[in-house]
Amino acid sequence: MTTAPDRADRAGATVWLTGLPSAGKSTIAVGVAERLRAGGRRVEILDGDEVRANLSRDLGFTKEDRIENVRRIGRIAQLLARNGIVVLVPVIAPYAEARERVRNLHDRNGTRYFEVYVATPVEVCAVRDLKGLYARQARGEIAGLTGVDDPYDVPVAPDLQLEAHQEPIDSSVAATADFLAAQGFGV
Ligand SMILES: Nc1ncnc2c1ncn2[C@@H]1O[C@H](COP(=O)(O)OP(=O)(O)O)[C@@H](O)[C@H]1O
Ligand SMILES: [Mg+2]
Repeated sequence: MTTAPDRADRAGATVWLTGLPSAGKSTIAVGVAERLRAGGRRVEILDGDEVRANLSRDLGFTKEDRIENVRRIGRIAQLLARNGIVVLVPVIAPYAEARERVRNLHDRNGTRYFEVYVATPVEVCAVRDLKGLYARQARGEIAGLTGVDDPYDVPVAPDLQLEAHQEPIDSSVAATADFLAAQGFGV
């Protein structure tokens, strides 16, 4: 595969993929990243699971800690995005208030921000259950699972909504890449 030369003068953006556990956020982010990189874009993925293993290892899953986790990730994303990187953020971010703060941070600094709602319903997520979280919650081994016994504020005005339970992964990836291209972040 040939890779287009990096054009560092191009603007970056933050693309936040919000949705329930196993909705498809990480999978779609990886697919979009591959496409953008192949086109010469500089891309970073800030995945919720990785961030929680390092930058947010001191945080748990209370409302306060979830909001703080999103605040940190939002700040890092904005720093990267303002330097020409397209930052894909597959992170649940259950609280609308916290998501809005991240959007406002970007707006204040003139950095583009897009919210992508990966709208796979909980019934489908619970069957996919990649990490076994839904099964463990059902067995009473864990509590506070987003969308089951912990809040998830459904995005009311996402920039893009993906019905990732009704289409193959490639379609969700293509829809996201096409949306970004239409916004000036194509390859
Ligand atoms: N349209 C789709 N988009 C994304 N993932 C999909 C789609 N259809 C099926 N899947 C599957 O759903 C699962 C989503 O897992 P993952 O991306 O880790 O979710 P999340 O990061 O939201 O917790 C994967 O096994 C993926 O193959
Ligand atoms: Mg994930």
